[in-house]
Amino acid sequence: MIEKIINQSILSLVEGDITQETTNAIVNAANSSLMGGGGVDGAIHIAGGPKILEECKNIRAQSGRLPAGQAAITTAGSMKTRFVIHTVGPIWHNGDKNEPEILASCYQMSLKIAEENGCKSISFPSISTGAYGYPVSLAAPVAINTVVDFLMKDTAIQLIRFVLFSSRVFDAYAEAVRQRVEVGCSDLRK
Ligand code: APR
Repeated sequence: MIEKIINQSILSLVEGDITQETTNAIVNAANSSLMGGGGVDGAIHIAGGPKILEECKNIRAQSGRLPAGQAAITTAGSMKTRFVIHTVGPIWHNGDKNEPEILASCYQMSLKIAEENGCKSISFPSISTGAYGYPVSLAAPVAINTVVDFLMKDTAIQLIRFVLFSSRVFDAYAEAVRQRVEVGCSDLRK
């Protein structure tokens, strides 16, 4: 576990299973259909139960497919957390199809929806680094820098946690935190 104070909020990295989180919201690495899938998407739908898919179907009926970089919120069903925020990461091609910008948008839009729904804490998986093939060594700095930039502005969110499914992924995010928080700008407290 790694924890850093950024402008009176906590940035936390843990290894674990995001479906067990007790933060106010967990983020799902979904696909545009919102009809579930494998990986963390499959785990969340299994752990939360059919209510999540029901609400995803309503979102689809109202707004159609969820574009990459956007986010939508549903119940968490029978999980301990209150909300699932579904976001669609970029599929990795070779880094010149706006993948970094779309990935940053996933974090930004998820945080925006979390604030709008009164969340004080939120947990993220490592978006796009599984089936979508985004190299974790490139995704981690985008994720960490986007979240640190968000926390540098005043927010009601007091805790942002990355829940990483393997030590390899944890180490990549830990290095991204070291680069930004220890090597990068030293004063992250306002
Ligand atoms: N808790 C936390 N992280 C998890 C869990 C879990 N229970 N299960 C998997 N992960 C991790 C993976 O190890 C990977 O590091 O989540 C990260 C994202 O991997 P994917 O779930 O494959 O997501 P992504 O790469 O964004 O691909 C999304 O895969 O499952 C489908 O429907 C989904 O089409 C979409 C695509």
